[in-house]
Amino acid sequence: MERLQKVIAYAGVASRRKAEQLIVEGKVTVNGKVVRELGTKVSNSDTIEVNGVKLEKEDKVYFLLYKPKGYISAVTDDKGRKTVVDIFKKHVPERIFPVGRLDYDTTGLLLLTNDGEFSYQLTHPKFKIDKTYVARVKGVPTVEGLKKLQRGIKLEDGKTAPAKVSMTSFDEQAGKAICEITIHEGKNRQVRRMFEAIGTPVVKLKREQFGFLTLGNLKPGEYRELTKHEVKLLRVLAETGKME
Ligand code: URA
Repeated sequence: MERLQKVIAYAGVASRRKAEQLIVEGKVTVNGKVVRELGTKVSNSDTIEVNGVKLEKEDKVYFLLYKPKGYISAVTDDKGRKTVVDIFKKHVPERIFPVGRLDYDTTGLLLLTNDGEFSYQLTHPKFKIDKTYVARVKGVPTVEGLKKLQRGIKLEDGKTAPAKVSMTSFDEQAGKAICEITIHEGKNRQVRRMFEAIGTPVVKLKREQFGFLTLGNLKPGEYRELTKHEVKLLRVLAETGKME
């Protein structure tokens, strides 16, 4: 017997958190009856439907995308904007979804999968995976400003964990700088809000690294499958905070 939300996540319909939401909203039936109880246990012989569609088991797939600007990190968008999943539609039949989120205008490394358990492991705050961003900012951060980011800075939803931050170039006259920042949390618009808080707002943001993964030779809009070894290493990384 397994918990209902875990079975839905494993089937690749949604992340585990999204599956919980679907259950609470009454969108899930077990053997024809709506179930809203999150702890409900189900077995292999139960028939589960989500939004009226029967759960089928899919092979698990894992992709690394160089997200271009102007795409929303979601499966669908009620405002009709392009989603990162649209990039895969022609060639990938599995029901994949993004692992976490990059803002509409943020570019860079984004993982997509139909493995809800894997996505849960990589995005839950208790699994601390480093993500490195390159930020072009307006103005030149002061040393004190950068130190604040390194120590952790108060945002409206709490203090950020200490970050690795460095300024890789700056132009005092033009009033701009490029910084590299590594964080392991995933608060909404976190990097943008951190730089905003020290008075140098982000004008361009790219995620260069996720754990040990980098973009390699990919161009914006291109993707590749993760190797079995990479998937395994990511799981180990999530569970232990290190690779071996
Ligand atoms: N931080 C942000 O501000 N935006 C992103 O897309 C990712 C991290």
